[in-house]
Amino acid sequence: MTLQQQLAETVLHLRQQGFEGAIAGIVLGTGLGELIHKIDIVKSIPYADIPHFPESTVESHKGHLVFGHIGKTAVIAMQGRFHYYEGYTMQQITFPIRVMKALGVAKLLLSNAAGGMNKALKKGDLVLLDDHINLQPENPLRGLNSPDFGPRFPDMHQPYDPDLSARLQAASGNMLHKGVYAAVMGPNLETRAEYRFLRMIGADVVGMSTVPEVIVANQIGLPCAAVSVVTDECDPDNLHPVSLAEILEVAAKADKVLSGIFAEVVEGLQ
Ligand code: HPA
Repeated sequence: MTLQQQLAETVLHLRQQGFEGAIAGIVLGTGLGELIHKIDIVKSIPYADIPHFPESTVESHKGHLVFGHIGKTAVIAMQGRFHYYEGYTMQQITFPIRVMKALGVAKLLLSNAAGGMNKALKKGDLVLLDDHINLQPENPLRGLNSPDFGPRFPDMHQPYDPDLSARLQAASGNMLHKGVYAAVMGPNLETRAEYRFLRMIGADVVGMSTVPEVIVANQIGLPCAAVSVVTDECDPDNLHPVSLAEILEVAAKADKVLSGIFAEVVEGLQ
């Protein structure tokens, strides 16, 4: 079955389940599920019950596609995303982005947990992504040779939408840092030498997601903006061990503020 056919089936299924009229799409990262409580939920479907959706294998990711409203704005939220390190193809992990667009979503907000390498960044800080460096070993657009999917060579001079990013900054009361996100495959964290390298090439934060989704969003003309929560400080000269439990704890603390910012921006989209 072609990707076009899969998309058509998934979109039809979700329409039948009431996923109609959403203009905002949200992808919630590791430990960042609080926003779900700000949505008046109409329908929440486990990924396992959605045709052609991969099933999330990460315990810290809930794995539901949620349709509902924040204020008057209809939204689709991914409660948990798919990562390359789980074993999926890049096309699988970005499939939901194409589905959201086909369902009418016009703006996309993404969040993630990331390691902070810029010395100015502290645990719990929020970083508005201004740009990224893709160090993942595959590309979600590879092999998609039909104009149905969008341009073959999408321009990436401004991968994060300035208007949507400015809305996030304004909603935060100007408290978001700005930075460059390096996407790595994971699932291991980085060595000291790797953090040093990532700093040298101009990255402020590092994580294992977001960039494939942003590449696809750019290909299909879906304006997007993204915020990283700094869950660990990655100073190569003073590196401490970090566990997933600590990452989740820090993410949970920052989650309230981030969810408030996302909710305000979504409410303002009409
Ligand atoms: N590296 C990669 N991914 C991460 C990190 C990190 O230090 N922290 C949270 N996600």
